[in-house]
Amino acid sequence: MTSLLKKAEETLEKAHAGINPRWYPRYHLAARAGWMNDPNGLVWFDGWYHAFYQHHPYSTKWGPMHWGHARSKDLIHWEHLPVALAPEGPADKDGCFSGSAVVVGDTLALIYTGHKFHGPADTDDNLYQVQCLATSGDGIHFERHGMVIDTPPGLHHFRDPKVWREGEFWYMVVGSRVGDTGQVRLYRSVDLHKWYDEGIFAEAEQGMGYMWECPDFFTLNDRRVLMFSPQGVAAKGYQNRNLFQSGYLLGEWQPGQPFTHDGQFIEIDSGHDFYAPQSFLSPDGRRIVIGWLDMWESPMPEQQDGWAGMLSLPRELTLGDNNRLIMKPVEEVSAMRGSYFPVPAHCLKNQQVFVAADAEAVELILQWNCNESAAEQYGVTLGDGLRVYVDNQAQRLVLERNYLDFSLAGTRSIPLPEGNRLSLRIFIDRSSVEVFVNEGEACLSSRIYPQPGQRDIVLFANSGTAVLKEAGYWSLDK
Ligand code: FRU
Repeated sequence: MTSLLKKAEETLEKAHAGINPRWYPRYHLAARAGWMNDPNGLVWFDGWYHAFYQHHPYSTKWGPMHWGHARSKDLIHWEHLPVALAPEGPADKDGCFSGSAVVVGDTLALIYTGHKFHGPADTDDNLYQVQCLATSGDGIHFERHGMVIDTPPGLHHFRDPKVWREGEFWYMVVGSRVGDTGQVRLYRSVDLHKWYDEGIFAEAEQGMGYMWECPDFFTLNDRRVLMFSPQGVAAKGYQNRNLFQSGYLLGEWQPGQPFTHDGQFIEIDSGHDFYAPQSFLSPDGRRIVIGWLDMWESPMPEQQDGWAGMLSLPRELTLGDNNRLIMKPVEEVSAMRGSYFPVPAHCLKNQQVFVAADAEAVELILQWNCNESAAEQYGVTLGDGLRVYVDNQAQRLVLERNYLDFSLAGTRSIPLPEGNRLSLRIFIDRSSVEVFVNEGEACLSSRIYPQPGQRDIVLFANSGTAVLKEAGYWSLDK
C-alpha cells in the first residue's frame, strides 16, 4: 500500500469512530467518513459486487478525489475496503475522477479520469483531463498504469470513461465539453492500453447542455441506451428542476457509426437528488444502476456529522412500453424485510391515520385507487418534513420536503399514471426517501433530514375521501 493510501486509511478509521450516526444510512452505501460523490467502477468480480466511488477522505467537502471502495455479496450488505486509488500523479495529480471497471480474465481493470492542472488551478485553460488505467489481481490492491488516452487537442473537460465489450473490441465513451456543447466521444481498443479515437459518438442538440458528464452506454432488448448527466439544461415547467440532470436517450448504434436517437431526453429519476448514475451487469444478466443520492451545490446537513453523500438503492433497469425505462429496486432488497405491519385503513375521509413511530428503515407499501379518490390531497407524511401525496387538482404525485433549518424546501412531482391504480413502494432510510411508482414506471429520490421525534408515518386525506387498496409497511433489518 502506498503511503498516500495508508494515510487515507488511518484518517478514515479515526474519523469513522467520530461520526454522528443520526442521518447515517442504515441500508445504503455511504463512505465511512468524509465526502462521497459518484458511484464508480460498479462491477461483479471474483464472486463479489464491487462499488467504488468518488471520495475525499480528509474532509466532508469535495477535494482531491480518491476512489473509495466497498464490496457486497447481495448489493445490500456492504463491506468497506481500503481506498483503491489516491491522486498520486503525474497523470492524476489533482484527482482520480469518475470511471468504470471491466473484468479481463482474472484481472479487474479500472479506467478513470486523471485530473490535473498545468499551472495554477484557477482557470480551465490550465485544466487537463486524461484517461488512466489501473489493474488488480485480488480486486483490492491496484497497480497504476498511468495515462492511456491524452486530452484531445483543444479540449479541457474530458472525463468519466465507461468501458464495455462488444464483439472483439473494448469500447469507451467519454464525456466532454466543446465550447458550450456537451459531447460524448468514442474510443476502441483491443487491450485497454492502446486506444483508437472513433470520433464523436453523440452531441447536445440546442438546449441540451454545455457538458455531458458520466456517459454510459448499454443495450436493453434490442434498443441502445445512452444514459448521461448533462450540465446546463434549463428548467422547464416541472422538468429539469435540479441544478444538473441525469437521464437517457434511446436509439441505434452499430460499431463504426455514430449513435442515432429517437425521442427526447428523459430524466431517469424525478426527485431532488439523483445524479451521475452508472450501470453494470449482474452475473445473471440484469442491468443494474446505482446513482449518487445527492445534487451538486445542495446543502448537505450531514457535513456537521463527519460525513457527506450516499448512494441510491441498486435498481434494475428494463425496457418498458412507450420506449421508456422501468427502474425498480433489485429483488435482493426484499431480503431486508422483517415484519409486515398492515394498516387496516381502506378509506380516509378528511382524516389522518397513524401508521408508525420513529421510522428509520422502512419500506412503506401504499396502493391507492385514484378513480375513487376525490380528496384534494391524499398521501403520507413523515414528521413535519416530508409529504408524498396526490394533488388531485393538478393530477400529480408530489414529493415535498420541508427542512427549512437547512434551506431545503420544495417539491418535485410527476403526472399521475394513467388508470386508477397508484402503487407506491417508499423506501425510507435515516436521511433518504426513494419512491417507486407502479412497479418502476417512475421514481422520485430525495435526501431528507428529520429531527428527533419527526419520524412518525401518518396517512392523510384532505377535503374529501381517498381509497386505499392496500397499506402497510415492512421494517427493514440488515
Ligand atoms: C460528476 C462529476 C464527474 C467527475 C466527478 C468529480 O458528479 O463531476 O464528471 O468525474 O464528479 O468528482
